[in-house]
Amino acid sequence: MSVHKQEIKKITTHQLQEMKSRGEKIAMLTAYDYSMAKIIDGAGIDVILVGDSASNVMAGNETTLPITLDQMIYHASSVVKAVKRALVVVDIPFGYYQGSSGEALRSSIRIMKESGAHAVKLEGGSEVKDSVLRILSAGVPVMGHLGLTPQSIYKFGTYTVRAKEEAEAAKLIEDAKLLEKCGCFAIVLEKIPATLAKKVAESIQIPTIGIGAGPDVDGQVLVMQDMLGITMEFKPRFLRRYADLQSVINKAVNDYVADVKAKAFPSDKEKY
Ligand code: KIV
Repeated sequence: MSVHKQEIKKITTHQLQEMKSRGEKIAMLTAYDYSMAKIIDGAGIDVILVGDSASNVMAGNETTLPITLDQMIYHASSVVKAVKRALVVVDIPFGYYQGSSGEALRSSIRIMKESGAHAVKLEGGSEVKDSVLRILSAGVPVMGHLGLTPQSIYKFGTYTVRAKEEAEAAKLIEDAKLLEKCGCFAIVLEKIPATLAKKVAESIQIPTIGIGAGPDVDGQVLVMQDMLGITMEFKPRFLRRYADLQSVINKAVNDYVADVKAKAFPSDKEKY
């Protein structure tokens, strides 16, 4: 008797392009570890971003700047092991692609080789053009990231909405067209006016994935800990919480502590 394994159709960059063409929205979330990646992959997420937001939500840093390439590879390889269907994209962290296109290529190759991920993401437009081209020349798919780019927080000085002024909005549109021309397969648009995001989505053929960029983009991304209600201090207007896991975990731990103290756990049935 032959055993037929059920084929799971993996999401590819090509499929994301087709989703944009037929108007199907792309759902993307971050993940940084095996257990959570397994749950969200099984629940049908299209793209998992191993974001450098791991610096904030996993390592407790104030910004994304301190996380290292080795740490990103550690998170990414844990996620990749869990994933059967989603496309896994990994952020190249701050300081590992800005120096030269050669450095960007070396960092991307390390991410792909050591984690088994499917694509990389980096922040910026014309400033990173050479790096994007060099990475793509090695056959590594690249996702762009425009608008609020957290690796530049000390240049911006604040996490407020970007590109409200005409000049910055015009540069953002030009950068999106440039990234498309270079060969990026998608672009994240973070915290920009919804009207501008719509204009960008209509100006380019590749998918735009928004976070705080309104509904008229080709997909949405959120940080998993934020949308699950684990990180309760972070309350931007764009964030919809789909669960209150902080309360669920609090109650579970309180109940456990009470049971241990009361000698109610383990019971007779829970011992050998
Ligand atoms: O690092 C990250 O989580 C990101 C998303 C916010 C897009 O870049």
